Amino acid sequence: MNEVLLRARGRHGGPASLDEYRAAGGYAALPRALKEMKPEEMIAVVKDSGLRGRGGAGFPSGLKWSFVPSGDQWDGGPKYLMCNADEMEPGTFKDRVLIETNPHALIEGMILAGYGMGMTEGFIFIRREYFRQADGLEHAIQEARGAKLLGERIAGSGYSFDIHIHRSGGRYICGEETALLNAFEGKRATPRAKPPFPATRGLWARPTTVHNVETLACVPGIVEHGAQWFKGLAANPEGAGTKLYGGSGAVEDPKCVERPIGTTLRALLDEMGGVRGGKKLLGVIPGGASTAFLTPEHLDVPMDFTPLEKAGSRLGTGTFIAFSEDDCPVKGTLNLQRFFARESCGFCTPCRDGLPFGVWLLEQLESGQGTREHLDWIEDLYRDIGPNSFCAHAAGAAEPIKGLFRHFRPILEEHVSASGCPFAEKAEAVHA
Ligand SMILES: Cc1cc2nc3c(=O)[nH]c(=O)nc-3n(C[C@H](O)[C@H](O)[C@H](O)COP(=O)(O)O)c2cc1C
Ligand code: SF4
Repeated sequence: MNEVLLRARGRHGGPASLDEYRAAGGYAALPRALKEMKPEEMIAVVKDSGLRGRGGAGFPSGLKWSFVPSGDQWDGGPKYLMCNADEMEPGTFKDRVLIETNPHALIEGMILAGYGMGMTEGFIFIRREYFRQADGLEHAIQEARGAKLLGERIAGSGYSFDIHIHRSGGRYICGEETALLNAFEGKRATPRAKPPFPATRGLWARPTTVHNVETLACVPGIVEHGAQWFKGLAANPEGAGTKLYGGSGAVEDPKCVERPIGTTLRALLDEMGGVRGGKKLLGVIPGGASTAFLTPEHLDVPMDFTPLEKAGSRLGTGTFIAFSEDDCPVKGTLNLQRFFARESCGFCTPCRDGLPFGVWLLEQLESGQGTREHLDWIEDLYRDIGPNSFCAHAAGAAEPIKGLFRHFRPILEEHVSASGCPFAEKAEAVHA
């Protein structure tokens, strides 16, 4: 398959330079688009393309752009584009790969998105630990400025736009779009009440659009080749575009690949060398830590938004974590719950106090102290925690637990009947 998002690569394994991106067709459509397309045409083509946000929720991107005030609805003041490169979800590393490989795709996508929504300034909010990646992006931004692709009157058009990098203070909640805006403004990173939505009242109370790295990098291809071309890239009829899929955990060759959206888990697993050590697959968490477990019976489900929802999970970030027959899904989930509990921003009680209690309950099971009552408590706790919390953090934390109870109840019960983890011996053998 021809790669779109990763179409340019640096010669020595580093990020593609401006020349390398241009040689792969990058920035080709930009001058024409800025001179000949009206902003509303840009929004229309993104709407028609069927692009859905790659940050986890899958919200239709063109629709999101249309919420930003324009024409008579706009007071003429600043509007901002915010690229969310916070990427702290366990198991997720696709935005890092994109930035490390093809940073100009993101920059070009931001210029076009900024033009479509009438914005003159964009920011990239990048995960604290992505030091090298932030430096690579800074270099790419300088290259683009030097070539008059950023700054005043881009590529000879009447449009001006610039991009600045902001390094995150380093918490998972900073990836939630309104907590991100608070963090950016120097406030405590807690989510804001919605409405008002960032589209009308975002950064410094001005209209703002927050987009994931991968979403923005899809835009140049759509503008260059059109909505139908983008739809035609998908592996399933209801999807649109390509997707950066990642695989980690019990796979032979963990990596990130760009494939048509809707590629099956079976095909992705095969490409990553199958399950480590030739073992059987027990299950996967398909899209980062806050999605529900799937099992081998779902191997042929297209990895796309709607099919995965029908299968009882979510595409999330599209980066799966595989569990082999030797890996305890309870222990794996406990590990994720420790992360979610630690990363609670503390603003609301069900999440702040409930997530640590969930960790304690799972620890009882793993350490052989678990009872049937504990199983009931876990199920009740995680059923109630999401709907009673302020943002999607707690609901996300509940997802793997829901999958655990749906697909691996016998394993949970075995933790009680065997007074401990039935996988412990296997794990010892693996690590011996
Ligand atoms: C706790 C939490 C963490 C999040 N972290 C990220 C993140 O690191 N990157 C991201 O793009 N979206 C993240 N999101 C989703 C964002 O709030 C938002 O939906 C997304 O950036 C919108 O971009 P999109 O429309 O391009 O998908 C997170 C959401 C929650 C609740
Ligand atoms: S759900 Fe958790 S992360 Fe979200 S606001 Fe409440 S305490 Fe903070």
